[in-house]
Amino acid sequence: MTHPAPASVVQWTPHGGVLLVTVDNPPVNALGAAVRQGLMAAIAAAEADAGVEAVLIVGAGRAFIAGADIREFGKPPVPPALPEVCQAIEACSKPVVAAIHGAALGGGLEVALSAHYRLALPGAQLGLPEVLLGLLPGSGGTQRAPRLMGVKAATELMLSGKHINAQAALAAGLVDALAEGSDPVAAGLAYARELLARHAPVRPTSALPGRLADKAAAQAELDALKAETAKSARGLFSPLKIIDCVQAALDLPFDEALRFERAQFMACLDSPQRAGLIHAFFAEREVAKVPEAKAAAPRPFTSIAVIGGGTMGAGITVSALDAGLPVTMIERDEASIARGRAHVEKVYDALVAKGRMAPEAKAATTARYTGSTHYEDIAGADLVIEAVFEDIEVKKTVFRELDRVCKPGAVLATNTSYLDIDAIAAATARPEDVIGLHFFSPANIMKLLEIVVPARVSADVVATAFELAKRLKKVPVRAGVCDGFIGNRILAVYKQAADHLMEDGASPYEIDAAVRGFGYPMGPFQVTDLAGGDIGWATRKRRAATRDPKARYVEIADRICERGWFGQKTGRGFYLYPEGARVGQPDPEVLAIVDAERARKGVVPRAFSADEIMRRYMAAMVNEGAKVVAEGIALRPLDVDVTFLSGYGFPRFRGGPMKWADMQGLPQVLADIREFAQEDPLFWQPATLLEQLVAQGRNFDSLNQTA
Ligand code: 3HC
Ligand code: NAI
Repeated sequence: MTHPAPASVVQWTPHGGVLLVTVDNPPVNALGAAVRQGLMAAIAAAEADAGVEAVLIVGAGRAFIAGADIREFGKPPVPPALPEVCQAIEACSKPVVAAIHGAALGGGLEVALSAHYRLALPGAQLGLPEVLLGLLPGSGGTQRAPRLMGVKAATELMLSGKHINAQAALAAGLVDALAEGSDPVAAGLAYARELLARHAPVRPTSALPGRLADKAAAQAELDALKAETAKSARGLFSPLKIIDCVQAALDLPFDEALRFERAQFMACLDSPQRAGLIHAFFAEREVAKVPEAKAAAPRPFTSIAVIGGGTMGAGITVSALDAGLPVTMIERDEASIARGRAHVEKVYDALVAKGRMAPEAKAATTARYTGSTHYEDIAGADLVIEAVFEDIEVKKTVFRELDRVCKPGAVLATNTSYLDIDAIAAATARPEDVIGLHFFSPANIMKLLEIVVPARVSADVVATAFELAKRLKKVPVRAGVCDGFIGNRILAVYKQAADHLMEDGASPYEIDAAVRGFGYPMGPFQVTDLAGGDIGWATRKRRAATRDPKARYVEIADRICERGWFGQKTGRGFYLYPEGARVGQPDPEVLAIVDAERARKGVVPRAFSADEIMRRYMAAMVNEGAKVVAEGIALRPLDVDVTFLSGYGFPRFRGGPMKWADMQGLPQVLADIREFAQEDPLFWQPATLLEQLVAQGRNFDSLNQTA
């Protein structure tokens, strides 16, 4: 007989002496209020029923429990709170067993840790990933995990947010046993009966001194992690709080430590970092929800062709090989194809050398690679990605060839960074099959994939591109056609703001330091040195003829490039790199060039604080972001956010530029832009969308909701 729960998301049924409690809250059994209430009621039912000798908690569907319901954070709390639920489970007078299949994450793992015994099935994924959301395990996880796993392993699990599998969980002491099969009910009931047969007692984790028994050793482990975290946290708040909670596990009685943990959790919940990181979590899932992918099914694809085996072609090839796809690479001549193959081999050789790939796995992977100089060899390819020189005529020639040889229905994609994809599509007789797939360098590593949608492409080709992104484990963002699409178009504008700042008085080193202080791994001038100053220089020369003569143009970077200083690869750029050093040193000669340029333009340099630098840098980014949204180049503000989080090193805890602007308050951002416009009205033209939102008292997020 099934007893009704307050909501059907938790059901309980007696199976002999075992009360089977099933959490059934699709898609991932998140611990929303109804689930928490249901679990409380189930435990109460177990206590009340003399026939129940043990309790088994399982998840229905594909997961055990993937954690607290993230959508509830920031809203008024609904009782019971998860810590109370976990306490009730642990305090149950009958043995409670958790049988884990799929994800047991965050609060889901905390529920399992509150049970007295844990069983894991193949495919189980256990973790405490709260840190990735700016939080910490707030339902006893910081107290119970160290008791079971030891301070080092538990704290590392919490600081990294990584998931571990069933075997690793058993080895770490996080679970007591493994089971075969895929049915948590059958495995869990068998395990519960076995426990009953051997009169296994109630065993609260809180009462186990466990691996905290050797206090001095535990403290030494924590001290080492504390020192590492102080260096690596890079402005993040919750890692330091996690350390404090584990310290409390060593110093305080369990109940007091739980209260301490709760207080730290609430502090994290209130932090803007939590808001930024949770925005990033949902935004990364929303980006794939685009009209074309909803309207059309993807075309099937099992083989890929890549045209061009340079930096990008090789990286794209590796990405596709890694996803298990066969790839044929086309190059201009035998020497180029040998170079292309060597690029691909080099990536795998490095993995083998580092012990991250077995030589046999490398052989099996590269066996799916074919190099060719004959377009006829890709006549059967389902999807072709062009990555030849960034030159419209070269690209058009390639697409005419593709049109000639490729089978009907093949998807024809270009990796162009800036060129007009409508024009490339028009070079073929099948523009409905032509799309932009803008990968980022290195293409086998970088997560962002801009899916650039030209006017005439058909919806199923767009859907196929999103499917490819999923297959390649990329984060896809839909972009419209314009110069630079979403990312590079906005980058060009805030890079100019940085150039203006440099000419007006901030040194490139001060600007980079301010940008790093904001949370970026590198500043814009460090990035230029890393990518090679010559690349931007070539683009600037190409665009010189079409540049608005009235627009401000800073020539400092050109002066540096004219000296052959292209950054790391030439040993100097904005920074000096003595003997191939990867971290640059400030260069007095660069500062002299900057001074000379200021003098030539009659600029009297003034000082900028890091805060003033960032106000301008961010205002430029947000203003252009608003224009990109208004023009439909980005579907929603969140698409801009994800572009910058996944492709441009934007600090994740700030949620992305548009989320950052919302958190600042759009009136403030607009006021800044209007203030800067007094100096340079041409550059600082406020986006109409920004003005409208401010006038309506709305924020960017309101557009995410309605799109
Ligand atoms: N709360 C609410 N919704 C959630 C959720 C959660 N904890 N986890 C996943 N979802 C939603 C996703 O938003 C998505 O919704 P959508 O279909 O409407 O876009 C859906 O569930 C499926 O998620 P994915 O697309 O991510 O599915 P995958 O199969 O790729 O991944 C997963 C599944 C590994 C569980 C992944 O979703 C995940 O990592 N979830 C977050 C887990 C997490 O961080 N848990 C900790 C929460 S904080 C906490 O527990 C605090 C506690 O200590 C007090
Ligand atoms: P690259 O110069 O390293 O490689 C280009 C390759 O194309 C060369 O190996 C060349 O031999 C080959 N090629 C040229 N014409 C060809 C033809 N007709 N048929 C077959 N192969 C031909 O250039 P890179 O950097 O790989 O860029 C390629 C494309 O990717 C460009 O459109 C670029 O804008 C874009 N891109 C580049 C990024 C980067 O960071 N390098 C990032 C994102 C996109």
